[in-house]
This record gives sequence, structure tokens and C-alpha cells, in this order.
Amino acid sequence: MGMIIAIDGPAGSGKSSTAKEVARQLNFTYVDTGAMYRTVTLATLQRNIDIENEEAITRLARKLDIRFRWIDTIHHTFLDNEDVSDAIRTSTVAAMVSPVSAIPGVRVVMAEQQRAMAENDNIVMEGRDIGTNVFPNADFKFYMDADIYVRAKRRINDYRKIGQSLTIDEIVKELEKRDKIDSSRSHSPLKKAEDAIVIDTSTLSFQEQVDQIVSIIRKKSD
Ligand code: DC
Repeated sequence: MGMIIAIDGPAGSGKSSTAKEVARQLNFTYVDTGAMYRTVTLATLQRNIDIENEEAITRLARKLDIRFRWIDTIHHTFLDNEDVSDAIRTSTVAAMVSPVSAIPGVRVVMAEQQRAMAENDNIVMEGRDIGTNVFPNADFKFYMDADIYVRAKRRINDYRKIGQSLTIDEIVKELEKRDKIDSSRSHSPLKKAEDAIVIDTSTLSFQEQVDQIVSIIRKKSD
């Protein structure tokens, strides 16, 4: 088992961009578990599977081949060899991802795959339940959070990049809805691990977020 750095927190907390850069600086493998849940959601929508049919969605999750690949400096997600990086970021997927990821069977399957990824590798893994459920013994645990309007503003740019224009209020509503479902589900909800280091990114620059995490890791690993 390699070294594991768990970064959890809600959407827009800055964890994806930060986790990617931390992984780059440490030369660790980066794993975006939110992208995995989004990919299961996309596949569920594409196949028109009823959202209530937890068994069918769990079965589907088990047979999907989800992989990550860096192309130049961009992190891509592949589903059965098809690049789904943009497709999993649409507001349609965002609206369905919390109910899909609340299905216990889906979570069990994803956590198994996530643990397997750390078998021979040093990893930075980001998500909602990495420090609490997937790797309760992670070497480092961080919990990133920020004011909801700051988070929504960050997401506006993400949507622009894929050609969707949403208002701040629409995104605030989406985030509040997801936070509520993600933190109240019965199986591995979004929650700060007791031993996680909290980083509030409301007023931090990207560089400051990265530096804080990297310096904590370097100090303790020396
Ligand atoms: O980080 P993100 O916004 O791409 O995550 C999308 C959704 O996936 C999030 O709203 C809840 C779910 N998720 C989860 O349940 N557990 C994780 N470890 C990561 C994401």
C-alpha cells in the first residue's frame, strides 16, 4: 500500500484543483472519486435506468470500466474507452449525481475500486468519504470548505468552460441541494473525519491552498 492523502469536502471547495496540483508537486497519482460517481450517473441516464432501481444501477456500476488519463496537462475521464470528461460535468448529471451516489451498492463498488487503486501507488484521492470510509487510516486527511457563494462563483467558470451559462443563484441552489443529500445519506455521508485538518478556502488563493497542504505533508514526512 502506498502513501494516501485524502482530501474531502463539498463541491466548489477548491479540492479538485488543489488535489491535482498537490499530486503534481509530490509526484503522486491523482484520483477524482466525484468523477467516478458522475460517470455512473451518466451511464444510468444514457441507459434510461429508473433512478429508483438501485439493483440495476449497482449492477451497472460494477461492470463499467472507468479510467483516468492525463492528456497534456488536462485530466480526462474515460468510460469504456470513451472520453466522457465534458459529459460528466453538465448540469443534468450534476442534478442526478447525489441520488445515484446515495445508493449503498454503488458506494460499495466504488470504494472497492478506489482501494484497489492505492495498492501499488502513492495517491492523492479527493471526494466526500475518503478520510471517513474509503481510507480511514490515510496518512493525511484534509477537509476543505468555503462559503457557499464563493463555491458557486468557482462553479460558474467550470460550467462556462463546457458552454453552459448558469446564474449564481441557480448554482447556489444546486450546491445546497447536493450538500443536503450528500451529508444526510445513510451510507458514508459527506462529513469531516475527526482527525482531518480543516482548510477554509473562502479567502485563500489557489496557491495558498496548495502551499498549506504541501507544507503540512512535507513537514510531517521529513
Ligand atoms: O466532487 P464532485 O462535485 O464531482 O462530486 C459529484 C458527486 O459525487 C457529489 O455531489 C457526491 C458524489 N460523491 C460521493 O458521494 N462520494 C465521493 N467520494 C465523491 C463524490
